[in-house]
Amino acid sequence: MQSQSSNKLLEIFARTPMPFDDYMMQALYHPEWGYYTSRVDFGVAGDFVTAPTLTPSFTQALGYFMLSEPLDDVAVIELGPGNGQLAYDLLLFLEQEKKLPTQYYLVETSDYLKKKQAQRLQTLPAHLFDLVKWVEFEDLKAIKAIVLANEFFDALPVVRFQVFDTGVQELYVAYESDRLIEVPHPPRAELVEFVAPLNLPIGYTSEVCFAYKNIAQKLQQMLSAGIVLIIDYGYPEQEYYQPTRTQGTLQAYYQHQASSSYLEQPGFMDLTAHVNFSYLSHCLLAADFTFDFFTFQNVFLLDQGINENLEQKPAGEQQKIKRLLDPRLMGEGFKVLAFSKHHELRYAPTYDLARFL
Ligand SMILES: C[S@@+](CC[C@H](N)C(=O)[O-])C[C@H]1O[C@@H](n2cnc3c(N)ncnc32)[C@H](O)[C@@H]1O
Repeated sequence: MQSQSSNKLLEIFARTPMPFDDYMMQALYHPEWGYYTSRVDFGVAGDFVTAPTLTPSFTQALGYFMLSEPLDDVAVIELGPGNGQLAYDLLLFLEQEKKLPTQYYLVETSDYLKKKQAQRLQTLPAHLFDLVKWVEFEDLKAIKAIVLANEFFDALPVVRFQVFDTGVQELYVAYESDRLIEVPHPPRAELVEFVAPLNLPIGYTSEVCFAYKNIAQKLQQMLSAGIVLIIDYGYPEQEYYQPTRTQGTLQAYYQHQASSSYLEQPGFMDLTAHVNFSYLSHCLLAADFTFDFFTFQNVFLLDQGINENLEQKPAGEQQKIKRLLDPRLMGEGFKVLAFSKHHELRYAPTYDLARFL
């Protein structure tokens, strides 16, 4: 089945071959026909479940982490807030703990999702909704804040590449014989520089997300002091580009099914690449942030007490928490990375993966 949005996007892609990150940008964020701007649906009934849409216990754990840090008069900035569930649950939690932020800023690129977020957040008590403000990255300058980015970096467009005997080539997306294919193209200088030290074998195909750099610089301008807390699936660089992962990590998601058909039905499916936590850390360090910790999601959540009184919770909730913690499900595939600026972090994870970055 070919959707109308796919047909419209194919008209654009048929004009001329384009870099993969431009293709991914259009497929996900084209103002009318992009996946995140026209049809994304989070949760069990949608295409994929994220931790905050699974259970408020996840958000509460983030809340306990925030409370453990001595930061007064601090705002929250959430990057890529999805359907608004994390903001909703976090504001209720922080109110209960009498630690409301000065403001709750949402940075969202999709107007379609901004509307969904507003619908959800308008059901909060008025004094909590009054704290919520949608902003662009550039609107905030030198404020004290905790930045939360859950499954944000995996949704950024990536550059695809392949190693040939003559060196690395960038992979562009071209339209040929009624379908999209990847074709080699002379690489941008940034890609050559990135791939050279990796020593990848001929034939190796993968991706890199150069957008991290831009986001890290924007975050630096936004914050006078605070914490950047990143939760996402991904690997340190050595594991990301391990010899056996010869096709990269890019996947298409449709109704909870992952596939490698990322060139089929653009605009109809989610496209996502794992996060390279080493490169993301490199970009944050280059933007003058201080590294704090890198750990598994299950370590972080257990340290925040997510398992306390588990047996007193309903069976369904126990299952959801187990899904967040189970190493074979979300417990280890998801990692937590923290950086800060002019703030000494009090929390240190009981098991740190920093040596792998
Ligand atoms: C995979 S969803 C995650 C949603 C949510 N954080 C959650 O965990 O349920 C990615 C989110 O990032 C947003 N996004 C992607 N690129 C963005 C950008 N450059 N600026 C702001 N938001 C962006 C998407 O529209 C979407 O809301």
